[in-house]
Amino acid sequence: MSVIRYLAGSELPLLREHLLRLDPEDRRMRFGGAMLKPEAIEAYCDSIDRARSLHIGYLVNGELRGIAQICFIDTPVSGWFDKPGSAEFAISVEGPWQNSGLGTRLLSRAVILARNRNIANLYMMCLPENEKMKRLARKCGIRLKFQNGEVIGEAGLDRPDALTVAAEYVDTAVGFVDEMLEYAGR
Ligand SMILES: CC(C)(COP(=O)(O)OP(=O)(O)OC[C@H]1O[C@@H](n2cnc3c(N)ncnc32)[C@H](O)[C@@H]1OP(=O)(O)O)[C@@H](O)C(=O)NCCC(=O)NCCS
Repeated sequence: MSVIRYLAGSELPLLREHLLRLDPEDRRMRFGGAMLKPEAIEAYCDSIDRARSLHIGYLVNGELRGIAQICFIDTPVSGWFDKPGSAEFAISVEGPWQNSGLGTRLLSRAVILARNRNIANLYMMCLPENEKMKRLARKCGIRLKFQNGEVIGEAGLDRPDALTVAAEYVDTAVGFVDEMLEYAGR
């Protein structure tokens, strides 16, 4: 059974396992050309600031198979979002789950939750040869520009409205129900 839901801070080991399962080319694409060794993936996961990041995971039978990571640059995740802020996102989907719209679903969710936290500028970086990511970003309204050998994606987000808040609420509730059904089926 599969579910898309927020990951708790205590579930970050699932992220490490997911990143280690990416095939070499996908891992290189995910980390902007660096072929990170397992120790470096471990160090990267340990370095994640949980107070400033949100993770939306796609889990299949409890294993993390895809994720959108959002890192808030100048705003903590919780609290009042009175000033427009900035955030960077990264996304990864394991090979067997690619090309079925999962990346699009995860990125669309990330855009809504960033908007609901008053993020005005959402960024991403990818390699110029990462055609899938560029296609995915454009589909989700992210503008791409080429800079210093990298592609920078930028989206200026509007302020939240009732629909974006309701969309996040419904998605969270569906994730919760799916998780309960999975738990009951185990
Ligand atoms: C980029 C990534 C997240 C996409 O995930 P996904 O689940 O396959 O994405 P989707 O299925 O939603 O969309 C992929 C799109 O790319 C298109 N695509 C597939 N191969 C392509 C190619 N060679 N060139 C251009 N577009 C391609 C698909 O047709 C699809 O577009 P469509 O929905 O309009 O048909 C996934 O490939 C991945 O994890 N890559 C490694 C990590 C990475 O590169 N992350 C980005 C840097 S942060």
